[in-house]
Amino acid sequence: MKVEALPVTKGDYNLADYDQAYESFDWKEVEKEFSWSETGRVNLAHEAIDRHAETHRKNKVALYYRDPERNEKYTFADMKKLSNQAANVLKNFGDVEKGDRVFIFMPRSPELYFSILGAIKLGAIVGPLFEAFMEGAVRDRLEDSGAKVLVTTPELLERVPVDELPELKHVFLIGDGVKEDDVHIDFMAKFKEASKKLSVEWVDREDGLILHYTSGSTGKPKGVLHVHNAMLQHYQTTKWVLDLQEEDVYWCTADPGWVTGTSYGIFGPWLAGASNVIVGGRFKPEHWYKTIEDYGVTVWYSAPTAFRMLMGAGDEIVKQFDLGSLRHILSVGEPLNPEVVRWGMKVFNLRIHDTWWMTETGGQLICNYPSIEVKPGSMGKPFPGVKAAIVDDQGNELPPNRMGNLAIKKGWPSMMRQIWNNPQKYDSYFMPGDWYVSGDSAYMDEEGYFWFQGRVDDVIMTSGERVGPFEVESKLVEHPAVAEAGVIGKPDPVRGEIIKAFIALRDGYEISDELKEEIRTFVKKGLAAHAAPREIEFRDKLPKTRSGKIMRRVLKAWELDLPTGDLSTMED
Ligand code: WT7
Repeated sequence: MKVEALPVTKGDYNLADYDQAYESFDWKEVEKEFSWSETGRVNLAHEAIDRHAETHRKNKVALYYRDPERNEKYTFADMKKLSNQAANVLKNFGDVEKGDRVFIFMPRSPELYFSILGAIKLGAIVGPLFEAFMEGAVRDRLEDSGAKVLVTTPELLERVPVDELPELKHVFLIGDGVKEDDVHIDFMAKFKEASKKLSVEWVDREDGLILHYTSGSTGKPKGVLHVHNAMLQHYQTTKWVLDLQEEDVYWCTADPGWVTGTSYGIFGPWLAGASNVIVGGRFKPEHWYKTIEDYGVTVWYSAPTAFRMLMGAGDEIVKQFDLGSLRHILSVGEPLNPEVVRWGMKVFNLRIHDTWWMTETGGQLICNYPSIEVKPGSMGKPFPGVKAAIVDDQGNELPPNRMGNLAIKKGWPSMMRQIWNNPQKYDSYFMPGDWYVSGDSAYMDEEGYFWFQGRVDDVIMTSGERVGPFEVESKLVEHPAVAEAGVIGKPDPVRGEIIKAFIALRDGYEISDELKEEIRTFVKKGLAAHAAPREIEFRDKLPKTRSGKIMRRVLKAWELDLPTGDLSTMED
């Protein structure tokens, strides 16, 4: 495919010469950026916050926070004290010790960030849960991880089946009117009294840091474990991909319930000592542009679905704001349409830089850098120190322009270290030759740029969120009217994909719009709003293999009017 490459614009970039860096890069060099390279004492939260509080960055703003009700800022010195207080609350009233799983289930707020950092300072493994999760999703994750402590709000507590979770010992509540008992503790009451001093728990670089649950095409969501060593990747990619420099004001729009919101909403920017803007509340184009204007945001990391919504809101709105502070824009999560890149050039006069990575990879792996040409539609080139290739199903590297499995040579610092409780699942990610296989298909052009082609499996990416069809199907068949369900992703111009469910009803149920709505609500309430099918189609029967597996591939072919392919395994 021939595309017009977007040239490099002038600037002093942290990564001036990609080719040379790729040639000579050594992760060992990055270690020197951290205090543990001298002291031997490791903890990511210490490197991200406390270390800066002892330097010229002490009074630099670390966090600008705002939502419809609050508007606050905190320096690195403040963040150190506040995360120490949170750590002391968790330790003294939650008995949190190294290795314990501490889950955090709440909307964005400064306290969410203090708690995450505080838990990490104690050597605990943090499990962030997206606020939209409903009871079933919350239960699955707390149960699988064996979480001992949960930090949540009185409103969200309804969705936490505390009595059914024997390993969950302490539930901290942040909000008004907390009724305390053996299990429930008023977080803020303790927080106000807590000491601002703390001895950070030193850990091994390979000790657990964070557990993000993510979806696959089969089975329940899996717990992807990252370790403190990931800080090498977070730091270096923040320097070279986000290009954060001392004066930057950085805004990542992702929620910490997803990996982008932790790796690049917490770890990367603060490891680099940057001023980080965090905005709570819901998406509204006017608010977004106003955020950029009000804070003078210079570096902005978001997702294709958000850019497409902004694009849909029209160019007139853009003109009402002064967005002149912006100098670098990035995207992640799904394919970044060339059309969106062109829109970005038009309204911001800046290139939008696509980055590719996954929950499992912990950090960016294939990216567009400010100092290289951008080919709209391409994810870019592998980060220095990362070997990416297109391989066949046996792990043989394919030549340029051949489509195959996008694979990464094992060993980058932020690679997941475990699928919690599921070593077989973990092993299934790897192929002979030490390749980590992503599940994406792609090709590489002659110049080493990678081009995304699709998912190899049935995983759905809707508005940048990853949804496992199996999880939705399982919830659907819990509804009394549903006999069978098959779920696919259907291409959508704004959301990337939407979730479409094909449903066969049980005897005695009539097809109706009310029933459709009821089933949608059932998934919304039981799983999460973003997992509810936007479209439902009733069928008498669903295509199945002889062994009874729903053939999503056939459903997709029906939906998109494509050939159904090999049907030899289908039952009559
Ligand atoms: C899947 C991983 C890492 C944060 C966001 C998503 C898709 C991710 C791109 C991109 C095309 C992309 C892939 C990948 N994806 N980035 N730049 N172009 N597709 O993390 O929820 O773990 O999903 O997102 O299919 O495998 P995730």
